[in-house]
Amino acid sequence: MQGFDLTYDGFDPASETLREALTSTGNGYFCTRGTAEWEDMGSVHYPGTYAHGGYNRETTIFDGYPVLNEDLVNLPNWLVLKLRIEGEAAVRFGSVELLDYQHTYDIRFALVRRDLRFRDHAGRVTTLTSRRFVSMAYSHQAGIEWTLVPENWSGRVEVVTALDGRMTNHMVARYRELEGRHLDPVSPRTFGPEIIALKVQTRQSNIYVAEAARTQVFLGERLQLNGPVGVERSLHQMEDYIQQVLAFDVEQGKPARVEKMVALFTSRDNAITEPLTAAGRHVLRYPRFDDALDEHQSAWTELWDSCDIQLPREPRAQLLLRLHIAHVLQVCSRHTARHDAGVPARGLNGEAYRGHVFWDELYVYPYLNLRLPEITRALLLYRYRRLAEARAAACEAGYRGAMFPWQSGSDGTEETQQVHLNPLSGQWDPDLSHNQRHVSAAIFYNVWRYYQATDDLEFLRDYGAELMLEITRFWASIAHFNLGRQRYEIHGVMGPDEFHEGYPGAEQAGLRNNAYTNAMAAWISATMPQVLDLLPASRSAMLRRYLHVTDEELRVWEDMSRRMYIPFHDGVISQFEGYADLDELDWDHYRATYPNIQRMDRILKAEGKDPNSFKVAKQADAVMLFFLFDHDELRAVFERLGYGYDRDLARRTIEYYDRRTSHGSTLSFVTFAGVLAGLDPASSWDRFLVALESDVSDVQGGTTKEGIHMGVMSGTLDLLQRSFMGSSIGDDGVLRLQPRLLDRLDGVALCMRFRGTSLRVSVKGGELIVFAQAEGFRWPLRVGVGPDIHELSPGGTCVFKLPAEASSPPPRDAGDRR
Ligand code: BGC
Repeated sequence: MQGFDLTYDGFDPASETLREALTSTGNGYFCTRGTAEWEDMGSVHYPGTYAHGGYNRETTIFDGYPVLNEDLVNLPNWLVLKLRIEGEAAVRFGSVELLDYQHTYDIRFALVRRDLRFRDHAGRVTTLTSRRFVSMAYSHQAGIEWTLVPENWSGRVEVVTALDGRMTNHMVARYRELEGRHLDPVSPRTFGPEIIALKVQTRQSNIYVAEAARTQVFLGERLQLNGPVGVERSLHQMEDYIQQVLAFDVEQGKPARVEKMVALFTSRDNAITEPLTAAGRHVLRYPRFDDALDEHQSAWTELWDSCDIQLPREPRAQLLLRLHIAHVLQVCSRHTARHDAGVPARGLNGEAYRGHVFWDELYVYPYLNLRLPEITRALLLYRYRRLAEARAAACEAGYRGAMFPWQSGSDGTEETQQVHLNPLSGQWDPDLSHNQRHVSAAIFYNVWRYYQATDDLEFLRDYGAELMLEITRFWASIAHFNLGRQRYEIHGVMGPDEFHEGYPGAEQAGLRNNAYTNAMAAWISATMPQVLDLLPASRSAMLRRYLHVTDEELRVWEDMSRRMYIPFHDGVISQFEGYADLDELDWDHYRATYPNIQRMDRILKAEGKDPNSFKVAKQADAVMLFFLFDHDELRAVFERLGYGYDRDLARRTIEYYDRRTSHGSTLSFVTFAGVLAGLDPASSWDRFLVALESDVSDVQGGTTKEGIHMGVMSGTLDLLQRSFMGSSIGDDGVLRLQPRLLDRLDGVALCMRFRGTSLRVSVKGGELIVFAQAEGFRWPLRVGVGPDIHELSPGGTCVFKLPAEASSPPPRDAGDRR
């Protein structure tokens, strides 16, 4: 990696699908994998295009049992461009001798570039440069440009340009036995001589998807200025595929350029009559590739102005942070905000987890909240629109309020599969992960943090408070009061650690009193009344009337905030009640036996053992509390509950679970890096680096090719701003910063938008500098380091001298603050 480029030298079939995922290009409306245009779907290449909300359900019959799944559909492949020289077979990686090859993802402009020099079997040497983008300026637009130079030959070439609707979803080996056909053909058509178009329909959800492509050839000396040349065109169309073959002569040493401009629309789009007409009409008007690219680059430049994080002392981390920024924005951009979109855990560039939305948005919003909060707002509305379904789910399960699904897709019903393939044993094991009710707590938390960062009371009034209220209600109804203990308890749930689905040998699924879930429920119960107080009295009264919220319910919330049960053992928070009785795992044995023990659940199950029996966690669970709340906030929760919260509880609990976590989810690296930032900055930094490398180096050995990890990518950005810069927003409305690791952070600079005002925050020579832009300045802003709080005026700068000790690790027993 150099500068702003992620570059792969040489073609490596074994890594190609991973590279395709990492070089995906998108604009928050749709994303396309970085597959070479000339390659078909197969074991080495997987062209994939995915759009927010493009889901479809299919049923597979398994041993006579119907299994229903909803997938984010792989849409028609718009990439297809193939080169035939002198009527011979199309050039592919496998059919020519590659003399030079580079595959580059230009991070700054989300541009994929391939530079090839190859010799074919007849000894002809050709260079081909391919560039392509999915426009950040116009969400429906994409473009490919080829520049072709015959080095030692002249002759006739044919370029095949196509739109291929025969795509299926079969990227993920574990899902291959399940139905992967989601598209039905509708019709191909042309719009004049240069434009081909194709319309398909998802088989069950009836979403029409249309693409149109305008392919033109440019020859001659002044390649960039000349208009397209007339070429011989032949058309072939089937119901689910359309192609044109463009034939023309090329001369030795003279470049020829081919441009394919593409439009993609679906029947879910606004301001169209139907997608095929829209695609055809739009592509007709699209400018030339270079002009379109210019507009795309301007849109990215504007984004980088508010989203970049500069970390000059750490070049590798710098580049990976920027790679993550680009990927996060490719999935969640301002374009996303115009659609009914959630945050698919694996982005829009692969099929892992079927494009479903989990709790991972918890890791995504902190970065967006302080830069592009309008995107968070829109993504939160994805949840609001599914409130009715969440209410129905709670009701069906015998609860009140809203119970959001662990995996969400089109309409917000539970999409978690019932069985899951263990690739190690080949067995289909029951999947009980839908018991992760904590997803509803994450949604509450997300609304609250969004509000704190933006002060967007309108959102709280119109949507947020209702969501929060129904979630609070759900917790109050799933909890029951244990008379013996005089505490509220929650049974039958799972925490974020997916290795523990229940008690060993127990018939009933779920755990008793998962500490993370219970503490979240206590915090929610304490926060909800504050939310009601914030609302205009009439709205608060209206919500209570409309949702029939009784005084008794308010009393129960108050009581729960003081009497939720949290289990402890050996001076640490117990992950759940009974955790202390589980067996210790022989970590040394497993480390010596298996090259990678991250997925200990699969290893144990393949050995015929039950992961539920062991003190082994996939990821942070109880520890999440220290990640989501700072010391003062968490102390307030625990003290209100009447539990002691000594300054060392965090350290003891984190160390305890750190020794017992296999990090089977890469989210775990982010969480541990976050909670260790104040305790052991060096170790925190190391884990931050692991999280940074996790997708680019595919540390899980094969998951990234199936889609990037949105939570981890954004989590690393949040680590920088929240854990290393130490930013937090208190109830007093002050933006506090407490930079640490000053030797590594020296020179760091980032922008933040705090409650409508744009700030530039930097650290240099032991000083923290905060500059408030005059443009768009909203009300007095208070920024502080520790007790030193300043008010910023428009165009004003505050300089804080950082305490010297902040650069060295704090003493071990004083570091329970992130
Ligand atoms: C993790 C979950 C996460 C999901 C989707 C799982 O491996 O355990 O916490 O939500 O992946 O990213």
